[in-house]
Amino acid sequence: MKIAILPGDGIGPEIMAEAVRVLRALDLPGVELHDGLVGAAAWRAHGHPLPPETLALMRECDAILFGAVGDPACDGLERHLRPEQAVLGMRKELELFANLRPAKVFPGLEAHSSLRPEVAGAIDLMIVRELNGDVYFGKKGMRTTAEGQREGYDIMSYSGSEVRRIAHVAFRTAQGRSGKLCSVDKANVLETSQLWRDVMIEVGAEYPDVTLEHMYVDNAAMQLVRAPGKFDTIVTGNLFGDILSDQASMCVGSIGLLASASLGAEQTAFGTKGAYEPIHGSAPDIAGKGLANPVAMILSAAMMLRHSFSLEAEAARIEAAVASALNAGALGADLGGDMGTVAIGDAVLAALG
Ligand code: NAD
Ligand code: IPM
Ligand code: MN
Repeated sequence: MKIAILPGDGIGPEIMAEAVRVLRALDLPGVELHDGLVGAAAWRAHGHPLPPETLALMRECDAILFGAVGDPACDGLERHLRPEQAVLGMRKELELFANLRPAKVFPGLEAHSSLRPEVAGAIDLMIVRELNGDVYFGKKGMRTTAEGQREGYDIMSYSGSEVRRIAHVAFRTAQGRSGKLCSVDKANVLETSQLWRDVMIEVGAEYPDVTLEHMYVDNAAMQLVRAPGKFDTIVTGNLFGDILSDQASMCVGSIGLLASASLGAEQTAFGTKGAYEPIHGSAPDIAGKGLANPVAMILSAAMMLRHSFSLEAEAARIEAAVASALNAGALGADLGGDMGTVAIGDAVLAALG
């Protein structure tokens, strides 16, 4: 069971260290951890955010634990050299097209949500975000118009097959939950979204046990703070999913709490090949201070055990330890507490027993 450990930039190495401690504490037989460089760290060492040796490691391993990439010092670089290209390149090269982003309020943390506790307490949703298409990967560029103005463009597009494969993941995910799927789009304005909606309906015919509803993204953003408990499974495109999942994190209490799994079609001897990362970034404002909440990273490792290694009991064990540590007050500054990264890691390890 080979795992690529890619800490990346900013708080990435700090939170990864805690996730690795938790993994080692489980003492799973046959697990090998292989370190690699991504993001600004890789660009500094090798001149590229996703060097060939890292990509080879990603291909070789059964799963990837990914910290975060991004460094303000790289904002002026040509786009293909920026740290963010590491995460985008990984998703595209490995065809990790399905991003699962669960958001659930931890018992005892209801009052830490940006929402009223009784509204927050009902949150238990799963965002299924498409990860290989949309405006992220369409033709993009910068040109000068006839009038001499600079003009930037990014083409938003989806093919039917790209929507179909994420639709199947979403319907199957909804089947495993409460059978309610909400597809979020902007079909009142965008052709991409009209196709998205048509395909969702078409695929839905194969899942009569799932109730499909459609919602425009602006309304979804509003409903997510009005009554988040009404959502179960949400399926949406790359850009809308990026935005709605950050929003969902504050409904739960902190962006430092939400994990994710990025999956494709590839099966290994142990499960589905995937990359696992927090939904947040490299948090340059708190990097190096020992203040980052490692929970999203630790929960990402739990998702890895579940999806890539079929170790459900071990995944649940980590999740229970995190829930119990949080409930006992292992809170960092992001949740109004005063515990640092390592202290929160210690609390999770203690709860693991
Ligand atoms: P961010 O998620 O890094 O940070 C947003 C805010 O949340 C900051 O105030 C930060 O301190 C806080 N925060 C984030 N994670 C936290 C944690 N674990 N504990 C406590 N507080 C936390 O988003 P940003 O500031 O917009 O982006 C910073 C950099 O990260 C950029 O270069 C961006 O492109 C990159 N980024 C990378 C990823 C990724 O690697 N998957 C994801 C998002 C952003
Ligand atoms: C995320 C991040 C990435 C995205 C960036 C860093 C490319 O925001 O994983 O949510 O937009 O997908
Ligand atoms: Mn994001």
